[in-house]
Amino acid sequence: MTLNGKLSLLVCGGAGYIGSHMARMIAEAGHEVTIFDNLSTGHKEALKWGRFIQGDLRNPADLDAAFKGTHYDAVFHFSALIVVSESVEKPFDYYENNVTGTLNLLQTMHKHGVKRFVFSSTAAVYGDPVMDIITETHPLSPLNPYGRSKLFVEEILEDYATAYGMDSVRFRYFNAAGAHPDGTIGEAHNPETHLIPNILLSSIDKGRRLKIFGSDYPTPDGTCVRDYVHILDLCSAHLAAVVYMAQNPGSHCFNLGNGQGFSILEVLKAAGDVIGHRIEFDFEPARAGDSPRLVADSSKALAELKWKPRYTDLREIIETAYRWHKNPVY
Ligand code: UFG
Repeated sequence: MTLNGKLSLLVCGGAGYIGSHMARMIAEAGHEVTIFDNLSTGHKEALKWGRFIQGDLRNPADLDAAFKGTHYDAVFHFSALIVVSESVEKPFDYYENNVTGTLNLLQTMHKHGVKRFVFSSTAAVYGDPVMDIITETHPLSPLNPYGRSKLFVEEILEDYATAYGMDSVRFRYFNAAGAHPDGTIGEAHNPETHLIPNILLSSIDKGRRLKIFGSDYPTPDGTCVRDYVHILDLCSAHLAAVVYMAQNPGSHCFNLGNGQGFSILEVLKAAGDVIGHRIEFDFEPARAGDSPRLVADSSKALAELKWKPRYTDLREIIETAYRWHKNPVY
């Protein structure tokens, strides 16, 4: 499948980690990109591609302004609060941003006749896995408000497809990782909560010691198992989704992962190989809301979207992240 002609695409959350890589990929593919972001967690320095509109999803007037005068062929939605443990403590913030904000966006799209939407959902919608390798048919039972906020939107999207003919692709990302290989954009959360950045930061900043959350999960070494997928592979799936929606109306969901599970200790070992030395750590109690194991079966995306991850080696994924963390621009 190929994309024919120049498209106009709106990237909500385009100043953030995944959104900035997406904006760049869209621009480099020769399409027009508009970024909508409130800069609450995103970075101005990452706004190097396309037109930027500052606004907040919680404010319908901001959204209206972003849609006035421009027709978008599709909207990609990366704006969300994403920290699982924080969602347990602040459910209102998560439901307001992730559910109400998205509903405002969908309603604005509907009002302006924009019919195609790609949604960043999450493996967290599955909760405790009842399958070793998770397919899209796995029961949906999120363990925390973050996962529930994403599942609510998935359900809303099915209703929008039925009622308003809005087409959507819902991507259930497993663990997004890595950075653009040229090292000019990358992952920068504050505070950083994700495993790979925290490993790399603790190796660079000697005052920062790595904590590993939980040592008695029902996994081979007692630490959580995750499926790490490169950021550029996630982005390429979004472009494939635009083509897919043109031929397949309705609302569709796809897992995006590499299909390989790595425990925290295995990730630590791989990172040590990339960095060239071992990383010291302390075990801490398990974090609230963490699932023991999340590993994707992405064969549906492979078959239907013709999506194929290019970064299948965990060390290579970590290398791209390390290039960024050694010399971050923001
Ligand atoms: N972890 C540590 N130490 C750290 C950071 C993380 O031990 O400093 C552990 C976590 O407890 C977890 C694993 O490493 O067991 C991975 O944690 P991340 O925070 O990197 O990723 P999560 O799996 O919690 O969450 C990520 C995204 C979510 C998404 C989820 C789906 O942040 O948005 O993947 O798998 F929902």
